Amino acid sequence: MKGKKALRLGGAAAVLVALTTACGTAGTANNASNTAGAGTEEKKIEIFSWWTGAGEADGLNALIKLFQQKDPGVQVQNSAVAGGAGTNAKQVLATRMQAGNPPDTFQVHAGAELMAWVDAGKMEPLNDLYQSQGWNDKFPQQLIDMVSKDGNIYAVPVDIHRGNVLWYNKKIFDQYHLQPPTTFDIFFKDADILKQHGITPLGLGDKDTWEATMLWEDVLLGTVGPQKYDQIWQGKVSWDDPGIRQSLETFKKMLQYVNSDHAALDWQDGSQLVATGKAAMNVMGDWAKGYYTTDLKLKPNVDFGWCVTPGTEGDFMVISDTFGLPKGAPHPNTVLDWLKVLGSTEGQDVFNPLKGSIPARIDADPSKYDVYSQQAMADFKKDQLTPSLAHGSAASPGFLDAVNTAMKVFVTNQDIDQFISALKTAAQENNLGQ
Ligand code: GAL
Repeated sequence: MKGKKALRLGGAAAVLVALTTACGTAGTANNASNTAGAGTEEKKIEIFSWWTGAGEADGLNALIKLFQQKDPGVQVQNSAVAGGAGTNAKQVLATRMQAGNPPDTFQVHAGAELMAWVDAGKMEPLNDLYQSQGWNDKFPQQLIDMVSKDGNIYAVPVDIHRGNVLWYNKKIFDQYHLQPPTTFDIFFKDADILKQHGITPLGLGDKDTWEATMLWEDVLLGTVGPQKYDQIWQGKVSWDDPGIRQSLETFKKMLQYVNSDHAALDWQDGSQLVATGKAAMNVMGDWAKGYYTTDLKLKPNVDFGWCVTPGTEGDFMVISDTFGLPKGAPHPNTVLDWLKVLGSTEGQDVFNPLKGSIPARIDADPSKYDVYSQQAMADFKKDQLTPSLAHGSAASPGFLDAVNTAMKVFVTNQDIDQFISALKTAAQENNLGQ
């Protein structure tokens, strides 16, 4: 069993936009106990996220329902902006933050994505809240580190998603006696058999591009291993490294096995191809499991199977959704009440079974989770943890944007040299690893 490895953050996060307007402050720093119960504030909250899809919206709605039970009379404005992985929401958020018009609270990934707002001075510290709720030893230390800077904690993690999962259609795999592709050799062997039988081997929906970036980051991890994968985002590995090139060769080869309409489909469409048997496999974070079980009512190990993406046994690509308190939030007291629910075991156990994720808290109740999530919980405790680039943890929003732009081109022209050169420029322009 490998020792659990600390997740490292990406370098100094560059903010996407030039933040010029100074927002008012929401109470004092470390303000959990100071402002809660102040009494003058309207019981209202605007919750901003991108959870509109099946499975995703169910999880959010369950949390909101619990919040309203705990806080009767509170008015909730659900300002979710459609588009997986925040494709559209992040832009809307940036515009609002720039205009000094933040939502009360917003979804943000632990790691570099959150730190971009922290570095811009846009977030309130939540140390008092953690203290008052006794949370300091209820979340894994590595996760607290991902939402902290200089001793201040800036967000409450609601989930842990795993990014390196390959889902497969169980009936198809049984029918052709295929092995779960935990290595690239098995993957291509399976893929060739499937192709011979006229079945699309790998379902992909990369309309929003991050889906392709995510597939590549999983291939990269499976090719170079967790140490080098980490070092890449710290700017310590040359972009001419043979492992990076190899990962692109493998990724390019995989693209020969995907559905021809992938550019027109989003992540859910891609996952659905496996559910309906139109494709045999799909690589997607485990929000796909939320979609399968919560929305499509599929059964794990009966309708769909899963394994880690090729070459990543013992590695866990971590994606954690968090919420915080932006400076200038109109209803800071209500936000603190919301965050209390979000960080409670009850909140986490209401949300995560629907969402496909596992609880971020270490003391949540495993019996509330299905066989997939119980395995993910066990793996999370022992695996090497690696931060996702596609979901904002590994590097700054500016770098990720540049990679996504280059990826859109790569998926079409599959020119490895051109992609590597775009990576070099993106790293330089965004001070990767600094
Ligand atoms: C991720 C997010 C997940 C899920 C997914 C697809 O970035 O962390 O919670 O929402 O996008 O939308």
